[in-house]
Amino acid sequence: MKISVKKVSCIGAGYVGGPTMTMMASKCPDLIFNVVDTNRERIESWNNKDLSKLPIFEPGLKALIAKTRNKNLFFSTNIKEAIESADIIFISVNTPTKKKGLGAGKSSDLKWVEASAREVAKYSKGYTIVVEKSTLPVRTAEVIENILNSAETISKTNDVSFSVLSNPEFLSEGTAINDLENPDRILIGGENKEAMIALSNLYKAWVKEEKILFTNIWSSELAKLTSNAFLAQRISSINSISAICEVTGADVKEVSRAIGKDSRIGSKFLDSGPGFGGSCFKKDILNLVYLAEFFGLKEVASFWESVVTINKWHQKRISEIVVKKLFGTVANKKLVILGFAFKANTNDTRESASITICKNLLNEGADLIIYDPKVCPSQIGTDLETNPTTFLEFGKVNVNEDYGRWTFCDNLDNNEVFKNVCAVIILTEWAEFRKVNWKAVRTKMVSPGWVFDSRLIANGKEVKEAGLNLWSLGDGHNN
Ligand code: UDX
Ligand code: UDX
Repeated sequence: MKISVKKVSCIGAGYVGGPTMTMMASKCPDLIFNVVDTNRERIESWNNKDLSKLPIFEPGLKALIAKTRNKNLFFSTNIKEAIESADIIFISVNTPTKKKGLGAGKSSDLKWVEASAREVAKYSKGYTIVVEKSTLPVRTAEVIENILNSAETISKTNDVSFSVLSNPEFLSEGTAINDLENPDRILIGGENKEAMIALSNLYKAWVKEEKILFTNIWSSELAKLTSNAFLAQRISSINSISAICEVTGADVKEVSRAIGKDSRIGSKFLDSGPGFGGSCFKKDILNLVYLAEFFGLKEVASFWESVVTINKWHQKRISEIVVKKLFGTVANKKLVILGFAFKANTNDTRESASITICKNLLNEGADLIIYDPKVCPSQIGTDLETNPTTFLEFGKVNVNEDYGRWTFCDNLDNNEVFKNVCAVIILTEWAEFRKVNWKAVRTKMVSPGWVFDSRLIANGKEVKEAGLNLWSLGDGHNN
């Protein structure tokens, strides 16, 4: 039986649901896409006429929104209508790590997924394909199926029925539009072949058939967790090597380049940095750890947990190096932080290394001037759990000596930002940080001035020629 698809809905208008549906709408102009979210403010931003006010920053997104919005792509809070009319419903809500109760600190909190499934059960009509888009613990499809097929739903009317599929999203933030347009693969897990074909037909509008993989539902769920775990593991591996480079005189950039030439290893995801952030890596690994523990696979659990442990240790290590190089104390010292997003080309700060490193430095009493081209000060305040303040003159003592202060800087054009600053710390690899005029910056800074480059993007020669000290992550010549 061929399933006819005319309307597609998505619950959750976040970093995944928003761009994914926008891409689909642009590639499938004959279908209608409704994206709904319980967060009214978020939906208002998606509908904002001023495209610079979309809730997420993603290169290329504005143009696609301009092409599709209010033509065949609609953002609203009307969940009931979106569910009633849909032939396919994507669930793309967030699944944070549980803070308390069973599995706290490791397993995912599925309350939003469950709530979404209940909404679908309540309002759906006829036959509906329900697609897990969020990254979920293995066997979540079973939970969704149980809710959808509960006696209550079935008794609503006889012609309600569902197929549940897993279709994880592999996009990376900052390159989401390109990743969606040219995916390495589309993974569809499920049991009902017709439903899987109906979903794959959406993608076939622009993705070659050989890139579309069909698997069983559990393999699909586990493949997504495994994929993120492997990627994160590469970063922890190279970051652990950066520490060895620093003490042996090796250079992590050279080591990365040398091992990346081995075609079995490959050159991607070998950039040493301040530790991985983002909404997925830590959460997904902890999910895997929880799963392994649940099934009594202690050694497997501790193997994967060490990836997260190294990441935490690495961030602490960088904060400590800054303090040590600045004569063992940063109390009342002004430090400029370049970059707060967890990577370049996004305004997302979830699990950003900048949060941990800034908190560590504030804890040491530092005064931070934080600049990021896309992250707003209120988000930084939420992440650092303190409000911004203005600073005292250099040399005067902070009244609250125990904890530093921070202030936001909205552009770097004015060199006054660097006035009386002891160190500049690069934490996100925004392109503009490659072009800092270190000579001009140096004239404002306190001597000896330092540049700490955790992303290996500063022009080392220029930094040194300007008369600044440079510490580069994983560079054995730092000492
Ligand atoms: C991601 C991915 O979907 C998932 O794979 C990953 O595991 C973590 O979260 P993302 O789009 O990055 O999702 O999350 P977020 O930007 O927080 O968006 C989720 C949206 O769902 C929010 O806008 C939230 O308001 C909405 N939501 C949540 C609902 O509409 N209904 C709910 O019941 C819960
Ligand atoms: C990741 C996965 O890449 C994507 O497939 C999945 O769908 C969601 O999770 P994302 O978190 O958006 O995507 O970004 P990613 O590019 O993977 O970067 C994650 C973190 O690792 C960032 O903090 C980034 O700076 C860091 N990173 C990445 C490195 O430190 N070095 C690298 O070589 C690559």
